Amino acid sequence: MANTTKKSTKVWSGRFESGPSELMEAFSRSIDVDRHMWQQDILVNKAWAEALCEIGIFTADEARSVQAGLDQIAAEFEHDAFEFLPDDEDIHVAIERRLTELTGEAGARIHTGRSRNDQVATDARLFLKQHVDIWCQKLAALQNSLIELAKANLGIVMPGYTHLQQAQPILLSHYLLAIFWGVDRTLSRLDDYFERLDVMPLGNGALAGAAFPVDRQKLAARLGFARISNNSIDTTGDRDFCAELLFIIGSFFSHVSRVCAELQWWSSNDIAFVEFSDQYATGSSMMPQKKNPDAMELIRGKSAAAIAAANQILILQKGLPLTYNRDLQEDKPVTFHQLREASISTEIFEQALKTASFNKDKMAAAIDPNTLATDAADYLVRKNVPFRQAHEIAGKLVRLAIERKVALSALSLQDFRSVSPVFDDDVFAALTVEASLAQRNIAGGTGPDAVKNQLAEASARAAKYDKNAFLR
Ligand code: ARG
Repeated sequence: MANTTKKSTKVWSGRFESGPSELMEAFSRSIDVDRHMWQQDILVNKAWAEALCEIGIFTADEARSVQAGLDQIAAEFEHDAFEFLPDDEDIHVAIERRLTELTGEAGARIHTGRSRNDQVATDARLFLKQHVDIWCQKLAALQNSLIELAKANLGIVMPGYTHLQQAQPILLSHYLLAIFWGVDRTLSRLDDYFERLDVMPLGNGALAGAAFPVDRQKLAARLGFARISNNSIDTTGDRDFCAELLFIIGSFFSHVSRVCAELQWWSSNDIAFVEFSDQYATGSSMMPQKKNPDAMELIRGKSAAAIAAANQILILQKGLPLTYNRDLQEDKPVTFHQLREASISTEIFEQALKTASFNKDKMAAAIDPNTLATDAADYLVRKNVPFRQAHEIAGKLVRLAIERKVALSALSLQDFRSVSPVFDDDVFAALTVEASLAQRNIAGGTGPDAVKNQLAEASARAAKYDKNAFLR
């Protein structure tokens, strides 16, 4: 079977005596992935047909029949009635083949001046414009949910960690907004990326430019591209628009996977800061009591392939001679798949957070009083003790508190004075979680006023990317 050959009916069969083996044919087919671009391919065909009509390649009648044929093909796809044939290597060939069946000679003229090399790059950019926008809307929804959560949970205190060791008290809202700003960087990268995505390759032909004077500016306007590409050699072989997107997706996943790790830990029975809703948790086939944070674990798991994909697309392009090489057909499976994964993960992450309940008593009770040690040192600094000495003094007090098995603030004034005479009665007011937070109203800090200001800034930022504001 592998060596079966037959006379080919392929679009490129003229110079061949026989067709490819079935093995080779199946190997080179990309229809399973690029069939998802049927809508874009129809749009590109329609615009190209119009451009060809303007330069006299089609008569007005032929142009009309081509437009009607393309509408019919679109309807066939919509009704799942389009029939692919074995010779349909990819979506471009399939649609041209069907158009020719429907319109005869008119359809046979559609590929004038055009190559699948500029066609596929145009289709893929159009496809990504649409689907990146869908992802952006989900990211904007995630931002809005984070803002709502931060507002609803204002005032909830919890331990903040570094090295997974309790460090200083923070507000839960401050933590939630930390997630917001990571998403904001993703959106800002996508916004910037969009400028470079929004460039039309059509008219570049195979590599040297179409030999027919189609109006590329008009074509771009019709297809909704902001610009046309400048160099046919560059554009037919350029897949930066995939690589950049995969980097953005990889960086999004690397950020979100950290939050997932943390929330997985927060949801453990020992910590119990958070409980996920039944809709976003799963059970165990063996242990009846289990409620597992699988949404977090799956997103973190998916980040492995996403980060690898950013590497894969760069390796795919590395060392290729300029212009189109068939290697580039491997761009779409990974890019489309990862964009879909990012989009779904964003939605799951948002819903899991939105429907989770945060246990404010557990969070407050978990704060180790010794996390106020920095505040003890800061207290001394405010009384003119150099910070390095203040740090040493506070460290000694922590040791004393640990020895006595009491909270730092439960030591007596006499104990405080035994380490430094600078301490006064007012030290006890300084060593509360509320006082610690109130000292951190610096812009970007976890103090309650600072977090309220941050919320206002986040809201203004989110409005920028809110629904439909993204696509220019
Ligand atoms: N299916 C190909 C791709 O996805 C486009 C076709 C270009 N093929 C060619 N032989 N020039 O990249």
